[in-house]
Amino acid sequence: MTEMQSAMQMRSAKRLKIGVLISGRGSNLQALIENCAQPDYPAQIVLVISSNPDAFGLAAAVKAGIPTKVFQHRKYRTREEFDGEIDKALRAAGVELVCLAGFMRVLTPTFVGAWRDKIINIHPSLLPAFRGLHTHERALAAGVRFHGCTVHFVRDELDDGPIVVQAAVPVEPDDDVETLSARVLNAEHRCYPLAVKLIALGRVQVVGGRVLIDGVERPDPALIGAPEGVTRH
Ligand code: GRF
Repeated sequence: MTEMQSAMQMRSAKRLKIGVLISGRGSNLQALIENCAQPDYPAQIVLVISSNPDAFGLAAAVKAGIPTKVFQHRKYRTREEFDGEIDKALRAAGVELVCLAGFMRVLTPTFVGAWRDKIINIHPSLLPAFRGLHTHERALAAGVRFHGCTVHFVRDELDDGPIVVQAAVPVEPDDDVETLSARVLNAEHRCYPLAVKLIALGRVQVVGGRVLIDGVERPDPALIGAPEGVTRH
């Protein structure tokens, strides 16, 4: 089979339908959009939801021809109602995997439970270190030698859940928040598409709170390691 034929076969093959939730810049969304534009990538973005009408990422979605919806939490009486509307929109679009990409609202246990093992998040640290906000400041203050990012399945606890892919980056002696966050962000843009791809190909299984890839507890296809540029997958 020629490369062209196999690309065409992938285009017609079933691709995993993903919904991406954002609140701001949307650079991880952009990385997913670029990967989904590759003919052999096994996922497609069918809906982008933003909690912020001014999110920069919305423009990227519109430019790529992806349907968008905005849900502002303050227009809803309760968190349950807000999450319920998001849930409805995702299901109406046929979403099979929800990808949180800088979504700044904490989702209710009802929503998280309804999407269990079908919802992932990207966090800018090597979890379980530095859950929560300001991860780069805290990594610098702690003097860690390596920092990074994690794609994980979402659980009720914030920034908790089975880890799919991690990338480590070195912390350089002269780093500040800006240089370190840029290095981590660069890794994020490789990690998120990789995690989605592994899930879309059916290579990821959650067993006992941990992720197995290809049925074994072997990190190789899910590790982007330091020094930068060393990619194993
Ligand atoms: C990223 O650093 C991500 O890890 C975190 O929020 C940020 C979103 O950035 N959850 P962007 O909107 O994808 O550019």
